[in-house]
Amino acid sequence: MDSGEKDYASPAGPPPLLDPEQLQHLCTHGWLLLDLPAELEARLEQLSASTSGFFGTDIESKTSTYPKRQGTEYGYYRVESEKEYVTLRRRVHSDSVLETHAEHVWYSSAGLLHRILCDLSRMGDSPNTVWDSLISGAVHYPTLDTDLKDSITLMRLFNYFPTTGMADPHTDTGLLTLCVGGAAGLEVADWTADPPVWIPASKPCILVGETLRALSQGALIAGCHRVVGNPKGRTSVVFALRPNLGLSTDMASFGGDGVVSNRELYNEIKREKYSINAKQDVREKQRAMATREPQRLIEYRPR
Ligand SMILES: [Fe+2]
Repeated sequence: MDSGEKDYASPAGPPPLLDPEQLQHLCTHGWLLLDLPAELEARLEQLSASTSGFFGTDIESKTSTYPKRQGTEYGYYRVESEKEYVTLRRRVHSDSVLETHAEHVWYSSAGLLHRILCDLSRMGDSPNTVWDSLISGAVHYPTLDTDLKDSITLMRLFNYFPTTGMADPHTDTGLLTLCVGGAAGLEVADWTADPPVWIPASKPCILVGETLRALSQGALIAGCHRVVGNPKGRTSVVFALRPNLGLSTDMASFGGDGVVSNRELYNEIKREKYSINAKQDVREKQRAMATREPQRLIEYRPR
């Protein structure tokens, strides 16, 4: 429609969040400790209260409320003498208070991580729309009928047992992860120190995942982290923003070449990694597989 007025395109994407120093830190370390917006903090507190209630019920009830599927990727899972956690990928119970709180945290966390992605694309003079297909469907808590084959973004609610609750050093597979712990235990690797050191995450932490590292063509590194035992135990909320596997990414937007299926890209990344939350014997096998020479994820051809 021609209104006769000059059109000014509104800026695509959300307003900037991080300052240049924070962005620099995220790129060089693969992680960033960040104070969260008050609204998200409040939502996390509500979620934390209902999560404690859920973990306080007996194992049979937890298992039947959130039956596990796809290995560690969906439902309630328990690693004896280490931790228990529930992974949410889509609405399971329409009347669940826990999931209603999770839904709010999901939306606010996705919004926060999307702002950071847009900060990164602005830094590279790319339009904010480069993320649209990657995060399609992940901004809102997916509905009950969502296809889990394509929708792999997740929220994971952890309960690490006192003293022995831990997670081995690893990087995440997705785009960006937000980790918010209720107590000390998460540590992040500082590769810039010589020798590298582990730094306790004293605040909520943003982590760069392997998919974002691959897309960035080496402009970012993935954030290596681990969880060490806390004598009092520890709960945490993890929101992992991952690519929509049903869509494709034009690598030209990221300084590469050609259109890559998000599923192919992600599967290639996963082949080189092992699930940190699998049971110990599964982890041993996965570790053995992970020692093989990593392949290049994307052939980088400078234009
Ligand atoms: Fe992780």
